Amino acid sequence: MNILHISSSIFGDNGKSSELAQHFLEQMSARHPDASVTVRDLAKDPVPHLDAETFQANITAADERSEAQQERAQLGDTLVEELMNTDVLVLSVPMYNFGIPSTLKAWIDQVARAGTTFNYTENGPVGLVKNTKAYVLGARGGAYAGTSNDTQTPYLKMFLGFLGITDVEFVLAEKLNMNAEQAPAIIDQAKQEINQLLES
Ligand SMILES: Cc1cc2nc3c(=O)[nH]c(=O)nc-3n(C[C@H](O)[C@H](O)[C@H](O)COP(=O)(O)O)c2cc1C
Repeated sequence: MNILHISSSIFGDNGKSSELAQHFLEQMSARHPDASVTVRDLAKDPVPHLDAETFQANITAADERSEAQQERAQLGDTLVEELMNTDVLVLSVPMYNFGIPSTLKAWIDQVARAGTTFNYTENGPVGLVKNTKAYVLGARGGAYAGTSNDTQTPYLKMFLGFLGITDVEFVLAEKLNMNAEQAPAIIDQAKQEINQLLES
C-alpha cells in the first residue's frame, strides 16, 4: 500500500492539521505495517506556481519535449507519478484566509494534467486516477462546515472527483481559535473520528 501525505501547514509539524495527519499515519502504519509513506511538505518545499512554459512542457509528451521542457516538467512528472501510484491520499488542510493554502493550490495546478490524470471526452472530463481513496484532514480557527462559507470541502471534493478520486472522507477540526481551552478536546474528537473511519 502506498500512502501519499500532502502537508500544507505553515507551522510544519506543529500545525493542527499536521497533528491530525500524524495521528492518521500512525494509525495506518499500525494497521498496515508494510505501507510505504511519501510525504510532500509544501510549506518546507513549496511547489512553484505554474507558469505558461511549465504548463506547456507538462502537457507535451515526454519524447517530444525539448531539453528545456524536460527540465521544466521534471517536478510535475514526479508529483503526478506519486499521485498515480497512490492507494491512500492524505491531504492535511489548514484554512487560511477562507480557502486552502496557496501551496496546496500550486500542487493541484501541477497534478491536474490533461491526458495523464484526466481526459476531456465528448461526454465531459474523465478522471484517470483510479483506485485511490482520499482523506482530507482539515483544521480551522472558526466554524464553516455545512455552510456556504466552507469553500474548501466542495472545492476539494470537486477537484479530487475530477481526477477520478471519488472516495473521499473529510475530518474537520473546527473552532480551534475560538476558545483555546477547548482546542485539545476538538483535536481529540477529530482523532477519534479518524480512528472510526479506519475501523469501518
Ligand atoms: C495566515 C492565517 C490565516 C487564517 N485564516 C483563517 C480563516 O480564514 N478562517 C479560519 O477559520 N481560520 C483561519 N486561520 C486559523 C487556522 O485555520 C488555524 O490556526 C488552523 O489550526 C490552521 O491549521 P494548521 O495549524 O494546520 O496550520 C488562519 C490562520 C493563519 C495563520
